[in-house]
Amino acid sequence: MKGTIAVGPGDGIGPEIVAEGVKVLKTVEKKYGHEFKLNYIDIGGISIDKHGTPLTDEAIEVCRRADSFFFGSLGGPKWDYPGAKVYTNTAGLRIRKIFDVYANLRPAKIYPGMEGCSPLKPEKVKGLDLIVVRENCGGAYFGEPKKQWTEKGIRWAVDTMLYSEPEITRILKVGFELARSRRKKLASVEKQNVTETGKLWRRLAIEMSEQYPDVELEHVLADACTAWLLREPTRFDVLVMGNLYGDIISDEASTVAGSLGMGSSAQLRGLGTDEEKPWGYYESAHGSAPDIAGKGIANPIATIMSAAHMLEYTYKLRKEADAIDKAIARVVLKARTADIMEKGMRQVGSAEMGDLICAEIEKG
Ligand code: IPM
Ligand code: MG
Repeated sequence: MKGTIAVGPGDGIGPEIVAEGVKVLKTVEKKYGHEFKLNYIDIGGISIDKHGTPLTDEAIEVCRRADSFFFGSLGGPKWDYPGAKVYTNTAGLRIRKIFDVYANLRPAKIYPGMEGCSPLKPEKVKGLDLIVVRENCGGAYFGEPKKQWTEKGIRWAVDTMLYSEPEITRILKVGFELARSRRKKLASVEKQNVTETGKLWRRLAIEMSEQYPDVELEHVLADACTAWLLREPTRFDVLVMGNLYGDIISDEASTVAGSLGMGSSAQLRGLGTDEEKPWGYYESAHGSAPDIAGKGIANPIATIMSAAHMLEYTYKLRKEADAIDKAIARVVLKARTADIMEKGMRQVGSAEMGDLICAEIEKG
């Protein structure tokens, strides 16, 4: 198999964690006989410094010629402050929109032995394995009007939570299909008691459920969902929701699962079931952690897991993705980065964590 990947290490801990993800890709290449061409781009703060904008047309072109993007993290206090001309994260948001990667899959799962890393009691999270499917290209993030203005000396601001039927339908479909391929449980999350978008969302979920009689559908209000995630997170399998709720709830889910450092993501244009090219944008869900950047201690696992999602969804290399997942499961039984450190474990930095995972993949 031959693939072309646009690699954007970005800012803060980005370059450190992407280096480990690339190490893992190279190990998979060698072991399974694939070939990944990596085309590096500047994105985020580093791109502002070098080119005056967080995302250049050239970088977009490199992405266009690739089958998938593998990114680190964007931003830091040097570029992102109230009054800055442009925030670094506009680069990521623009890419979502340009490439229409409307389905943001954010898994939260606990590897056996890591239950103690959760802020919840270990018995509450044992076996936790869920995926938040976040609508990624619409809703309050992109709806118009979206602006600030002053009228009679009073400052106003508006964001618009706007959804069309096709936008909701395509994301619900990803939710149903994914649930069908897993434990067949789908939670559709909205605020139909208050919002019009929520009412339409629930109606469409009910209509679509007729095509998926094998999938058990439940409707959960977004606020109640945040409570259930603390009370009984293992009740969930797949959760599908709008952009803003997905942003908030995916952070909660990955924290419940142990650490933001374990939160991976796959931003896809469909699941590749009927689309011609399941284009994908893969990165950890966490930020650039400027406070620990350059120290070599960041947890690269979320980024490595994101590389596994890339193999699974864009390249359909399920066996290879599984091999990475199993390697991580074995490594975290003995070695941990600082954020997931527990008694009896050996503490390692980013590079050693990457090496250990590669060694397990090689062993197979
Ligand atoms: C995420 C991030 C982004 C978002 C920010 C950086 C714009 O929090 O990917 O969850 O809000 O979508
Ligand atoms: Mg977020």
